[in-house]
Amino acid sequence: MAILATSILSADFSNISEQIRLAELGGADWIHCDVMDGQFVPNITFGPIIVKAARKSTKLPLDVHLMIKDPSKYIDEFAKAGANRIIVHQEAAVHLNRVVNQIKDLGMKAGVAINPSTPVEILENILEYVDSLLIMSVNPGFGGQVFISNSFAKIRKAVEMRKRLSANFLIEIDGGVDKLNIKLVKDAGVDVFAIGSAVFNNDNITANTTELKNIIK
Ligand code: DX5
Ligand code: ZN
Repeated sequence: MAILATSILSADFSNISEQIRLAELGGADWIHCDVMDGQFVPNITFGPIIVKAARKSTKLPLDVHLMIKDPSKYIDEFAKAGANRIIVHQEAAVHLNRVVNQIKDLGMKAGVAINPSTPVEILENILEYVDSLLIMSVNPGFGGQVFISNSFAKIRKAVEMRKRLSANFLIEIDGGVDKLNIKLVKDAGVDVFAIGSAVFNNDNITANTTELKNIIK
């Protein structure tokens, strides 16, 4: 069953509870929270305070995507804020195995993310220990960018590696997914779809969510 993780990056933060409620009403499965530090990526978004506000707004799992340097320093804070899953970037974590264990030891699901220019193969020695692999299909930092087409090959590679390693992580795609390309992305083998602007960029949040959900069902 495909999972729709609506990304609040493109939501109206003056009304975040209501925006989450509207996505939930349309069938969102998870709420995706994009944390950016202005160091690892050229943008600053929010930290644990907003994750805590999201936690108070919904019972849906919170999928917390850390686009920050040295993520191990902040895992505790995000756990306390109510994260269910924390995703760290391979490029940002020097000791990836250690931070994955740190996340799991706190009772959360652990994911690793890779930028568009990072090959999936670099994760050969970590994939059997993670709950999800997030493939960035845009350069991280901003919502509303165009899907990078070589992501299809990376998805297929991830499916092949999962089989070969007898691993069972979920494959998540993040960036540039919309109503037009989501079917193709699903057919390549994605389990979880992180989607921001195609959900929140107009006033039809509930209808957008339902439409996307129906295509991947
Ligand atoms: C980008 C973020 C994405 C972002 C996707 O750095 O990680 O989660 O919200 O936004 P869209 O769906 O607009 O590409
Ligand atoms: Zn994200």
